[in-house]
Amino acid sequence: MFGVYVHVPFCAHRCDYCDFATWTDRAHLIDEYVDACVEDLQRRVANGQPDAASVFFGGGTPSLLEADKLVRILDAIPRTAGAEVTVECNPDSVDAAKFAAYRRGGVTRLSFGVQSMRPHVLAALGRTHDPANVQRAVALARDAGFAHVSIDLIYGTPGETMDDWRATLDSAIALGVDHISAYALTVEPATPLGLAVAAGERPAPDDDDQADKYAFADDTLSAAGFEWYEVSNWALPGHECRHNRCYWDGSEYVGIGAAAHGFTGGRRWWNTRTPERYIARIADGPDAVTGDEVLAPAARVEEAFGLALRTRSGATVGRAAAPVIGQLASAGLLTVEEDRIVLTRPGRLLASDLTARLLLAGAPG
Ligand SMILES: C[S@@+](CC[C@H](N)C(=O)[O-])C[C@H]1O[C@@H](n2cnc3c(N)ncnc32)[C@H](O)[C@@H]1O
Ligand code: SF4
Repeated sequence: MFGVYVHVPFCAHRCDYCDFATWTDRAHLIDEYVDACVEDLQRRVANGQPDAASVFFGGGTPSLLEADKLVRILDAIPRTAGAEVTVECNPDSVDAAKFAAYRRGGVTRLSFGVQSMRPHVLAALGRTHDPANVQRAVALARDAGFAHVSIDLIYGTPGETMDDWRATLDSAIALGVDHISAYALTVEPATPLGLAVAAGERPAPDDDDQADKYAFADDTLSAAGFEWYEVSNWALPGHECRHNRCYWDGSEYVGIGAAAHGFTGGRRWWNTRTPERYIARIADGPDAVTGDEVLAPAARVEEAFGLALRTRSGATVGRAAAPVIGQLASAGLLTVEEDRIVLTRPGRLLASDLTARLLLAGAPG
């Protein structure tokens, strides 16, 4: 399966916790940026880029672009019949006309950054929308005919009680979406949140609280018919995000736009980080790639193993690690399904540690 990721590095406001490649003062670059993305794509298509089964507009805030600009980029991407096309949206920057234009243009799936349905938690995260905006945005998506709507949630924000998290999950389920991603709040050093935590002005999230909230989310979402298919992702059966799968199963994808990453021909590569440099690099040609690496076969196996272990399908294992796998299974951290191992919920909370331990024991099969 081949995928295309398009990065839109513009936001109306910078959230306190976010260190993504995005800017709040560069809206004047949008037209040139869209032109550069289209040019980059046209060159790649002329060089034989295959039809995409999945396209993902991520950000930043792709929904900040006027719909015709986003659709211009989408039009430059040859796609297979029935391709999944996702647009990340901020609940503040959407309306009925935009969604209608997305639908006409071939967008099939929307993903909203919701984070919380509790106003004081949203304020603590530095978000600008309120829960009513989310309800309005999801209702607009449904009215426009989108069958696939996802939301992102963040748990473990200091000040968020278990009751707050329960209320967020209940409201999220009541929205009637088919996919939910839930991430533990991560304190990134170079963000307002990171600086405030380092200065002792704000508390850091608590690991045990986040573990309890993960377990609670998994119970609540399972009871509502959502199945986990990756550590941080739950979907109604058959509604998993195809683009995510493309990253996890080693498929090829190209990255278009500032700071976007690609993986083609066994090579991982990334574009220059700022929108100005991206525009300039595309003007100079032939592309905006600023770095790449070819993983040695052993490193590729290890990376694929770690990614697979985070998924519900699990990772295949050889015989070498049988003693360690036996110990971890007895400790309730994983289950063995023929030649595959699948993490249990306690195991999912320790996914990185377990991956390291299993690699040391020579587990990949
Ligand atoms: C790039 S944002 C895209 C959505 C859109 N920009 C918005 O925020 O409404 C992707 C998601 O990453 C998650 N995220 C970003 N920074 C995070 C952090 N420091 N800790 C946990 N989750 C984070 C949020 O859930 C966010 O919705
Ligand atoms: S979380 Fe989303 S809206 Fe907030 S700054 Fe990051 S990309 Fe922009």
